[in-house]
Amino acid sequence: MLPSDPSKKLSFARCIKDGDLVIVYERHDSMKAVKVCETSVLQNRFGVFSHKEWIGKPFGSKVFNNKGGFVHLLAPTPELWTLVLSHRTQILYITDISFVIMYLEIVPGCLILESGTGSGSLITSLARAVAPTGHVYTFDFHEQRAASAREDFERTGINNLVTVGVRDIQGEGFPEEYSGLADSIFLDLPQPWLAIPSARKMLKLDGVLCSFSPCIEQVQRSCETLKSNFTARGGSWSAAARSWRTAVESLQSVGVDNEEDGLVARRRRKVMVLVRAGRAAGGGLVEAPWCTVGGVG
Ligand SMILES: C[S@@+](CC[C@H](N)C(=O)[O-])C[C@H]1O[C@@H](n2cnc3c(N)ncnc32)[C@H](O)[C@@H]1O
Repeated sequence: MLPSDPSKKLSFARCIKDGDLVIVYERHDSMKAVKVCETSVLQNRFGVFSHKEWIGKPFGSKVFNNKGGFVHLLAPTPELWTLVLSHRTQILYITDISFVIMYLEIVPGCLILESGTGSGSLITSLARAVAPTGHVYTFDFHEQRAASAREDFERTGINNLVTVGVRDIQGEGFPEEYSGLADSIFLDLPQPWLAIPSARKMLKLDGVLCSFSPCIEQVQRSCETLKSNFTARGGSWSAAARSWRTAVESLQSVGVDNEEDGLVARRRRKVMVLVRAGRAAGGGLVEAPWCTVGGVG
């Protein structure tokens, strides 16, 4: 799915092969991930589509069946995967993911610690950002969720970039072997403040921690723990993002046939806290400026 090897980078010039994962796009609110198999068919409301006809076509192609029905075959990018994955938990969506990746300063080669794994929505984008030489170590205390995430990462071809561990991160913290090695840490846990002391130990100097919480009470508690773990100056700001769905709608006006664009807006709210591990005079991870980020989405 992802360019873990630069020579395999997906582009519209790359053609669909037997065994590839494609996102079958019917319309913006109807997509599904399908593994291409020469002997299989896809059946939907537009009829029957033989996978055999798809093989050799470039990603992005519009393909027809013998009744004139059509679908588009899209490359499985993280942006699309987030829209089609099976929801085993609440997940992060594109607005939040973009924000997290930017503020965590994730670049190829980074080592990232993450918990909880959940449905793996964020991880798919983290994997693309650290590829081809970095790695994401993610932990969830729920064995079945961790196993399903592993299966998904194999299916999407990012299993060489992601390792899923079963661990209670709030109770036990991150494994000691990652002490001082993490470029970035991401927490999406019910009580993130319990994991903050361990996260602090794991961060490299100048590493960044982001904690993502739906409730302001969780954010307040996390900030208190951050203050006691990172002696710091602090600040906070909020960022609001709106996603707009554009649709063409026919509007009637007296005596005139008229067609205009109509806009529909959706809004979500989430809160994040970010902190950077700072450099003390002696080079230790002691004095740390930190900041909070609230209200994204
Ligand atoms: C909201 S989901 C994470 C969603 C994920 N960020 C995504 O984008 O798909 C929270 C996850 O944290 C896990 N979790 C809760 N408490 C935990 C703990 N103490 N240690 C590790 N994982 C935990 C849950 O099992 C759940 O899968």
